This record gives sequence, structure tokens and C-alpha cells, in this order.
Amino acid sequence: MSDYNHFYNKSIENPIDFWREQSEQIEWYSRPETIVSKDANGYPLWFEDGQLNMCYLALDKHIQDGHGDQVAFIYDSPVTQSIKKYTYQEVKTEVAKLAGGLLSLGFKKGDTAIIYMPMIPQTAFAMLACARIGMIHSVVFGGFAPHELAIRIDDCKPKVLLTASSGIEIDRLIAYKPLVDEAIALASHQPDHVIVFNRKLGARVPFKKYDVDYEALVYGSEETNCVAVASNHPLYILYTSGTTGKPKGIVRDTGGYAVALQFSMRYIYDVQPEETFWAASDMGWAVGHSYILYGPLINRNTTVIFEGKPIKTPDASTFWRVISEHKVGTMFTAPTAIRAIKKEDPDGLFIKKYDLSCLRNQFLAGERCDSATIAWFQKHIPIPVIDHWWQTESGWPMVANSLGLGNTTLKTGAGGKAVCGYDIRIFNEEGMVLGDGEEGFVVVKLPLPPGNLLGLWENETRFQNSYFSRFEGYYLSGDGGFKDKDGYVYITGRVDDLINVAGHRLSTAEMEEIVATHSAVAECAVIGVHDDLKGQVPLALVVLKAGETIAQFQLEYEIVQKVRAKIGAVASLRNVIVVQRLPKTRSGKILRKLLRSIADGEVIQIPSTIDDVTIIAEITADFKVYEGGK
Ligand code: COA
Ligand code: AMP
Repeated sequence: MSDYNHFYNKSIENPIDFWREQSEQIEWYSRPETIVSKDANGYPLWFEDGQLNMCYLALDKHIQDGHGDQVAFIYDSPVTQSIKKYTYQEVKTEVAKLAGGLLSLGFKKGDTAIIYMPMIPQTAFAMLACARIGMIHSVVFGGFAPHELAIRIDDCKPKVLLTASSGIEIDRLIAYKPLVDEAIALASHQPDHVIVFNRKLGARVPFKKYDVDYEALVYGSEETNCVAVASNHPLYILYTSGTTGKPKGIVRDTGGYAVALQFSMRYIYDVQPEETFWAASDMGWAVGHSYILYGPLINRNTTVIFEGKPIKTPDASTFWRVISEHKVGTMFTAPTAIRAIKKEDPDGLFIKKYDLSCLRNQFLAGERCDSATIAWFQKHIPIPVIDHWWQTESGWPMVANSLGLGNTTLKTGAGGKAVCGYDIRIFNEEGMVLGDGEEGFVVVKLPLPPGNLLGLWENETRFQNSYFSRFEGYYLSGDGGFKDKDGYVYITGRVDDLINVAGHRLSTAEMEEIVATHSAVAECAVIGVHDDLKGQVPLALVVLKAGETIAQFQLEYEIVQKVRAKIGAVASLRNVIVVQRLPKTRSGKILRKLLRSIADGEVIQIPSTIDDVTIIAEITADFKVYEGGK
């Protein structure tokens, strides 16, 4: 039996022994006796009586083991044209002082902190400093606007907010501090302090009474030690889009997450300590938390904190420069990044300029990867390109080729096989298991393995309703897909109204709420349509109020600006089509799937529940008028 089969079968048949053995791979202050227990709703809690500290595992342990001089972070910033390396010892000193500074300001274990920062080492220092003293961090992606930040402030009620003076987006400086001040003004909850790291790049940094200077705080503080926290103490809250306008605060535990990350670094990514591992994502996403920061550090790797884009910083050669310069062994990015490079450098001319012999494996996730992109990559860099599937909720891969367990046979289009601990099934509408090749809902039989979400921040009802009420005893992933006869899982896309834009998960419901506030709009729908670069982009369809005479281009401009102002530029809404009516079911539900098929030019399956079938021709004509005008 292969290692993969042996491990996988054991993880499903005897999860207690399996995860006990894996829990022994990390260091605990107090080793857990209870491997899995259940909360009041029967949801699994891992290693309940274990005590540990994530920052200790990430930093102090390696220093104690004699590896303090190993490089922990390589900060590579093409946008500021700088590269800086930090050893484990240097990171620990800075983090321990910052943690001491947080204590001196009166913050304590269990308090929440929002981190709204660009891709700089100070973001990682802030996360680790919180973990060190048991504060719960919530990193908010810098591409979100003040309104989104305010929603998160009101939800997790941070005692403190950490920010930097600015971020850099290809060709523009984004001053963060005015955005933070605006968010605090919008929010009902008020943090005690805002800690500001001034990058001195020329951005405006308005001073408020609640401000504390990051550098002065670190300079003036004593180092503090790690505190022991219970395994189920929340390490962080990470907001992600849900199917309503309000984001979901995914809560991650400490012990289960540490065990799962250690397992994944070794058995999925097959990475040895000391190697350089690079996840080209943002700290504001799940990939950033798990595979820029905590996973590589727990595994004593050197991790790259990259402040740039795959293209235009300065060109499509950047990724290859970083890989060859820092000897990256394993890389992880979203397919959209490879598509962007392919578009700028179709013949891979930049690739030929660099020695990429260090690169062993290229992992992709965040959205479905098309086979043309994989083929292009392999033509120019003949190494395994491994698609794998996971979500903010899971925190680590659910479907992958587990390279460290010898599961190296790749199938194009598949995300790989179920990862240890995940009993993945494909269900039809009624919850019956479907056969090989039949597409349905991708669900996971409970208990979910360690590392998965502990809940939604202070919202048990939404937690139950979102994931467990549809099929009792199973976690609903929200994705559709199928399995083949060999157990490979193919993810075909979301079955709900979430969309994936350049690997960023966004809610169309949230955009609809904003579009609907435009004074000319009577009714609207926002759908995700195919985009060659970003995979999907949002498209708004609006019905105007009777007698409304606003010009189409004016309406489009105003709606686009509204969405940018409320959600942020990352929403990428650029197109607004005026339609006479929206297709609905007889009970009044908008038929979004039908709209997507029309927009993408697919064969249209007429839903049996449609109220008026003539609308299909009408909407198709509206699309033609719009495209003709562009
Ligand atoms: N702060 C402020 N603004 C941000 C931002 C941030 N951290 N991140 C993105 N934005 C802005 C961009 O500047 C852009 O603004 P614009 O509309 O004024 O040009 C907008 O949000 C959309 O950004 P993005 O979707 O990233 O598009 P892009 O055209 O700038 O870049 C790619 C396209 C493909 C190069 C880029 O999306 C990319 O590198 N994607 C990798 C995917 C990834 O890391 N996913 C994470 C999950 S693995
Ligand atoms: P996020 O929570 O932002 O990581 O987004 C998770 C969603 O991204 C999943 O539910 C999928 O819809 C999509 N996704 C992630 N990885 C893949 C993949 N390898 N193939 C297809 N879709 C993916």
C-alpha cells in the first residue's frame, strides 16, 4: 500500500490515533490527553486540554534549537527596490519587544487587534506579537476600503489597530492612515489606540490622539515571553466573503492549526526545514496566514515576504528573479498570476534569463486553473505544477497531491486527492452520494480535521446555518465538483453567489446592496462572468426607475465609483449593463445562473421555474447593445 493510502485510510478510520501521532510533531507546554472532543453542538474540538504558543513554535523553539542565525524572512520589495533579510533571532527580538509594547499599553490575552498593513515585515511582526501574548489578530487586506474596515471593527471590536503609513500599488502610493481614521469615524466601536509604522515614503500621516508610533513603542519596550494558551484559544479571526452583504469572521484555533500546518508542510508540500518557501499572496488572505507566515516558520523554512505584483513591478520577470535570487524550492501562487505573466511574456523570454534549477514544485490555488496555463508553465519550466483546493474556512488544503506521501501522479483539471483527515463526498440536491464523474455539491463528512475553523466570530447561528444545516453531519464547502474513479477531485466552481476575482473571494450580494443604493436603480443583479486574466469579474445588471434618463456611461461611472468607495478597488467591478427586466422564477427569485450563461455565451438551459421565457431573447439583445457600445 502506498504511503498516501496508508496515511489517508488511518486518518479516516482512526482519526484519534492519527492526530495524536501528528500532535507529537510539535512542541506543547502541556501535551494534550484528549485528542478530539465535541462542543455543545457536536462540532469537533481538537486537543482541548493541550497548552502551547504559536509564536514560540514559529520563533523561540528554533532559536533554542540553535538556528537563531538562519534567515526567517526575506523581504523582497520591487516597489521600493529593496531587499532585507531577517534572521530568526532578529525577528524574535522585534516581535518580543512589540509584544512587550502591547502589554505596556494595557492590552492582554484575549483582546482583539486589527492589522491593516501592506506586505511588509512589520505586518508579520504584528501578527506574531499578538500570538506571543495571546491577543487575537484580525488582518484586513489593504485593498479594502474604510467602509469594509469599519464593518470588521464593529464585528470584532479591536482594542488596538496596527497600521502603516502607506502601501504601494504598482504606480501609486496609498496612504493607509487616512483610511484607518475614516474607518474609525464610520465605526461604532472605537479602539483604544492605533499603532502606526511610518515607512517615510512621503504619504500623509494625519495625527490623532489615539496614535502610537510603532518604532518608538518597540524601541522603548522590554522583550516579553510567550504565554501558554489553550489549544482552542483563537489565534486569529480572518474575514471572508459570505453570501450576504456581511463578511464572515472565520475563527482559527491555535493547537489544531499548528498541528495541521506542520503536517501540510511535510506531507503535502514536501518541504524540508531550511529551504526557502514562497507563497506569493497577501498576508490579508488565508494563504498569507498559513503559508507566508505560520506554516513555513513552524517548519523552520525561510519565507519570502514579497511586496509587488507578478507583472509591472517592474515587469513579467519579477517572479523568476525572486525564485533564482533567493533559491526558492517550492512556490505557491494563484493561477491568475501565471496568466498575467503569460499574457505579458507569451514566449517565456524572461524565464530563459534566470537559473530556476532550485525550483522543485509549483503549487497553485485560489481559483480553478485552466489547462492552457498549466501547459504554458510546464513548457517553459518543466517541473510539477500542482493545483490544490482549499478555503479560508479550512486554513490548509483539503484536496491536493500529497507529495510527501508519494502521491505524485498529477491529473490536469483535478485538484488532487483528498488530503488526510478529509472524507470528501459528492452529493446531489437530496444528499445522496453521486457516482464517479457526476457533478454535485462537494461536502466533507464531520469531524473536520484539525486546523479548520473553530466557528464564526460570535455568531454561532450563522456558523451552523452556513455550513451544517444543508446536509446533516457534513460540512458544506459551497463548491461544486466531481470525483473520478481514482479518487481525484475536480472542483468546478461555487454553487452559491460568491465569485473569485484574481484569486480574491468576493460576494455579489454585497455588491448588489451597494449598486441598489444608486438613485437611478430600481432593481439590480451582480454576477461573476468569465475573464481571461482574472478568471471571473463582476458584472452589474440594472433596471432603471421609470422615467430615469441618466446616460449609460454616467450611470456606469457612478456605480463603479460607489463600489470602489465602499468595498475597495479590489472588487474590480467595471461594467454595468442596463436591462429592461431581470429574469426571475415565478416566486420572484433572480435567475443568476441563467444570466451568467447568457453573459458567457454558453448553451442556455432554460430553467423550468422561469416566469417568462421571452426575457432570454430580450436580455441577450441588451448584452449585444452594451457590447456594441464598448
Ligand atoms: N491595496 C490597495 N489596493 C489594492 C491592493 C492593496 N493591497 N491590492 C489590489 N489593489 C487594487 C489594485 O491596485 C487594483 O486597482 P485599480 O482598479 O485602480 O487598478 C484593484 O485593486 C484590483 O486589483 P487586482 O485584482 O489585484 O488587479 P491588478 O490588475 O492590479 O493585478 C494581477 C492583476 C493578476 C496581477 C493580481 O491580481 C495578482 O497578482 N493576483 C495574484 C492573486 C493573489 O495573490 N491571490 C491571493 C489568493 S492566493
Ligand atoms: P478563499 O476562501 O478566499 O481561499 O476562497 C476559497 C474558494 O476559492 C473555494 O471555495 C473555491 O471556490 C476557490 N478555490 C480555491 N482553490 C481552488 C482550486 N484549486 N480550484 C478551484 N477553485 C478553487
